[in-house]
Amino acid sequence: MNEPRNEPTSRREFLKNTGRFAAVSALAGVAIPHVHAAGNDTIQVALIGCGGRGGGAAKNALMVKTGPMKLVAMADVFDHKLKGAYEALKGDKDIIHPVDVPEDRKFIGFDAYKKAMDCLKPGDIAIFTTPLAFRWVHFTYAIEKNLNVFMEKPLTADGPTSRRMLKLAEEANAKNLKVGVGLMSRHSRALQELHSRIQDGEIGDIVLMRGYRMHGPVGSMASTAKPAGGISELLWQIQRFHSFIWASGGCYSDFYIHHIDHLCWMKNAWPIKAQALGGRHYKLNPEGLPYVDQNFDTYSVEYTFADGGKFILDGRCINGCKPIYNSFAHGTKGSAIVSKANDCGLPSSTYKGQNGDSGNQIWISKVKPEEQDPYLNEWNDLTEAIRNDKPYSEVKRGVEASLTTSMGRMAAHTGQEITFEQMLNHEHEYAPGADKLTMDSPAPLLAGPDGKYPIPMPGITTNREYEPVRAV
Ligand SMILES: NC(=O)c1ccc[n+]([C@@H]2O[C@H](COP(=O)([O-])OP(=O)(O)OC[C@H]3O[C@@H](n4cnc5c(N)ncnc54)[C@H](O)[C@@H]3O)[C@@H](O)[C@H]2O)c1
Repeated sequence: MNEPRNEPTSRREFLKNTGRFAAVSALAGVAIPHVHAAGNDTIQVALIGCGGRGGGAAKNALMVKTGPMKLVAMADVFDHKLKGAYEALKGDKDIIHPVDVPEDRKFIGFDAYKKAMDCLKPGDIAIFTTPLAFRWVHFTYAIEKNLNVFMEKPLTADGPTSRRMLKLAEEANAKNLKVGVGLMSRHSRALQELHSRIQDGEIGDIVLMRGYRMHGPVGSMASTAKPAGGISELLWQIQRFHSFIWASGGCYSDFYIHHIDHLCWMKNAWPIKAQALGGRHYKLNPEGLPYVDQNFDTYSVEYTFADGGKFILDGRCINGCKPIYNSFAHGTKGSAIVSKANDCGLPSSTYKGQNGDSGNQIWISKVKPEEQDPYLNEWNDLTEAIRNDKPYSEVKRGVEASLTTSMGRMAAHTGQEITFEQMLNHEHEYAPGADKLTMDSPAPLLAGPDGKYPIPMPGITTNREYEPVRAV
């Protein structure tokens, strides 16, 4: 789905221009090295961001059956996170390739990413599993070093970094680098078959899609004030990145992007606009302390496609309410369960009519046991493309999925209708200078004198998601 059918004109122009930029770079004599590992070469891997997903991605990299792999370097801003991930990987019985990361290839700090990537040779793979604020920073260096990349979702939270990442994607393509993005629904064999069935007309033209992720507060989406002392404000915000739009796009971007991505894939288009509801029902935690993060605890976003089709995304992080976590598509001839549970849980199925009754079932997915894990599939697919030098770049669609997500979030946060164009061209950059941060830097978001951070105020702050400094 690299070229959605309903792309607006000026965006098409923008993408054409970034393409021209890449072509000019190539013609200007930028070397296009042979950066793929041949058949049996060992692909070395560096892990940048050694948290939960980083450990998982590195493990997946070390489980692939496509050829030899080796983890050779690790980087984080927290020593304990790196150590934890290293110990877990060393002790992991599912891994079939070596973990070879001696002390002098373990790096801590905001420049650790460079040192880890300096341990690689062209054609190796750098994994980016930090919060999204650092994607463009790390991707810029990987391209300079001719490295293939696996980077986690979301890729961006704002317009300026989205435009930057689209340009970087063109540069990576011009160098024939392979880049995987952790929107793993695209590598679910069930969703792949469902996508072809929908394209073949099995449920007719899609007119409505629904995505739900509703559960209690998870991750670091809800924060009370930073405790005095301890780590710096910057490191605290990074540690609690779901609470801060600059770091993660907030819980809306971090939690809901999978459904947004895979439903738009089923429709083969990105929405042109969004309008939304959302709010904060609970302002105090159970102990009566005020929450200071930037998230709403409910979001209901209505996306509209160029053909008038609709997509409703409901997100909620409140305990005690009915948990719902699945996704659906409705067409003119029938309907589909896209994700039966969670982000892209098996099985997917199609139905005559709109009810999803078993009597009306047309198809239900059956996936080979060894291909049931989309997180492992995405690594087998990426390394297979590297070894066989097949074109492989998921960045553009990763940015488009991130922009669509940000468009819905911004619609809820401002109380306005937001178009894809507005989101792409918006000038508010949430973490300017993310490439220059050091351990001593102030955080990109500052608390007001009452210790609270700027929050979205729909109907009051309408041309940006929040004011840089909170009015008290
Ligand atoms: N595809 C999926 O299903 C999935 C699942 C979970 C997380 N994720 C994504 O993975 C990313 C990380 O999430 P997580 O849950 O692993 O978070 P985490 O906090 O557990 O891990 C992030 C790690 O990055 C480190 N880090 C932060 N800034 C850094 C920097 N500038 N340089 C080096 N290290 C830095 C942190 O210290 C931490 O160890 C997020 O973007 C998240 O959305 C994707």
